[in-house]
Amino acid sequence: MTELTHPLATVPRDELVARAAADPLRPRFHFVSPAGWLNDPNGVAQWDGTYHLFYQYNPEGAFHHRIQWGHATSTDLVTWKDQPVALSAGGPDSTDADGCWSGVLVNDGGTPTIVYSGRHGEHELPCVATGSPDLLSWSKFADNPVIAAPPADLDITAYRDHCVWQEGGRWRQLVGSGIRGCGGTAFLYESADLRTWEYIGPLCIGDSSQGSPTDADWTGTMWECVDLFRADGGAPGQVPDASGASEGDSHVLVFSAWDDGVTHHPLYWTGRYSGDAFEPNALNRLDYGGRYFYAPQSFQDESGRRIMFGWLQEGREADTSVEAGWSGVMSLPRVVSRDSDGSLSFAPVPEVAALRREHVGVTPAMITESTSGPGVVTGVAGPQLDLELELELDPGAVVRLGVLETWDADGTPIEQTAIELSREDASESSGEAVSRGTLRLDRTRSSLEGDVDTDPREGPVPMPGGRVSLRVIVDRSAVEIFANGKPLTARVYPRLGGGGISLDATEGTARVVRFDAWTMGEIFGSERLLFP
Ligand code: FRU
Repeated sequence: MTELTHPLATVPRDELVARAAADPLRPRFHFVSPAGWLNDPNGVAQWDGTYHLFYQYNPEGAFHHRIQWGHATSTDLVTWKDQPVALSAGGPDSTDADGCWSGVLVNDGGTPTIVYSGRHGEHELPCVATGSPDLLSWSKFADNPVIAAPPADLDITAYRDHCVWQEGGRWRQLVGSGIRGCGGTAFLYESADLRTWEYIGPLCIGDSSQGSPTDADWTGTMWECVDLFRADGGAPGQVPDASGASEGDSHVLVFSAWDDGVTHHPLYWTGRYSGDAFEPNALNRLDYGGRYFYAPQSFQDESGRRIMFGWLQEGREADTSVEAGWSGVMSLPRVVSRDSDGSLSFAPVPEVAALRREHVGVTPAMITESTSGPGVVTGVAGPQLDLELELELDPGAVVRLGVLETWDADGTPIEQTAIELSREDASESSGEAVSRGTLRLDRTRSSLEGDVDTDPREGPVPMPGGRVSLRVIVDRSAVEIFANGKPLTARVYPRLGGGGISLDATEGTARVVRFDAWTMGEIFGSERLLFP
């Protein structure tokens, strides 16, 4: 349980940072750990103006083991300064002897306070730590765990991760879990002081017998990283304003569907939280990339925006990551807002534009399937890009945007990551206005490497009048796509390092109303330290 060196720690510690920095597939403007392993965002917050991003970190190597809380701060949500590790495993007898798993940061009357899952053996229990006013040094509460055991008399699948807020002068907490034979759940607790908790009951319980584990919206046997907030962006305990009060669907419960060690995907229920229960209304996929945007956590910043981060897991072999010296990417921060149909809409924070460098604007054009070769020559290329397109698709049209391309002598792509938008044709829409479409990611030619994940990803996109606002952010192995506010995040591993772009209609006709492309800068200049 507490061996000093893990068998996977094959790369000497003092080589990790250099190996990670030398990998051409490592993103340059997404947050990544100095080296080693990164998973979930934790304790995301803005405190006295400064943004804080803590994260699940293993500086021993690029594998998941005895997790610590890495820490970085930012004043602009774009560039990040590494800070000392905030929490690390305690002594052999402590509740967190095997690591400090996911949790949140709250403001306890001016005292920064972390609620996290202490891991000991195969189990996790809720723990508390308090921080200095600058949030840089942390002391664990002497009587951890603050909840001694999961609710008795229930056969649970797992028990960890926290969502904590203030309501009516008391604290409330959710702990993610699952009830064997039923489904995922979140247990609700209440406290006056964050140290003594009274169990209230399950906030709501999923049904894992609905659908199948291969479904993109299967709710799993355990809910990791539950995150409850008001659909207007506020904290759950906030009293709704007059307009919010009249709406049935005023809350959002985000969770990551897990089953027996498999991280499936993030989902969210819209519904109503009131009293001690959450009444779900609609279940939604949070990101069509599934496991590539996992364990999201959000917060409300000082300007009132709800901002979300997620973990972009790897899609290459675990050994390859270990040898590369790093694993895991943090998403760009996303603003979460409510769509007209009650579902959520996402966009990278506007601050990201500060990283834009060279700009190319492509002239408006009509593209049809009969156009031979790339329909639009974009004149822009590179492994770090921000693309904004306004497209209009005729019914039945399919538009294909290729990025990270390398061509052979005939101009045929050898490597290509393809983003496809298709609009339903009139027959599929049974006579109504054709306003639906699909966003799809085709990774079959993303990499000449054989041992990377190439499974397709796709999901529905509202397309009123065939119009699509498409945003594509490419950062080497990280790709974040937003089509009319619906995200699809994934990882790709082009071996040839090409940054070509092409845009075609593979079926029907579409209009490129606007196409702006920028190359993107880097956020880490000097050499980083494994232990800042
Ligand atoms: C989600 C998760 C959490 C857990 C943490 C451990 O990815 O499994 O449930 O707290 O990661 O690192």
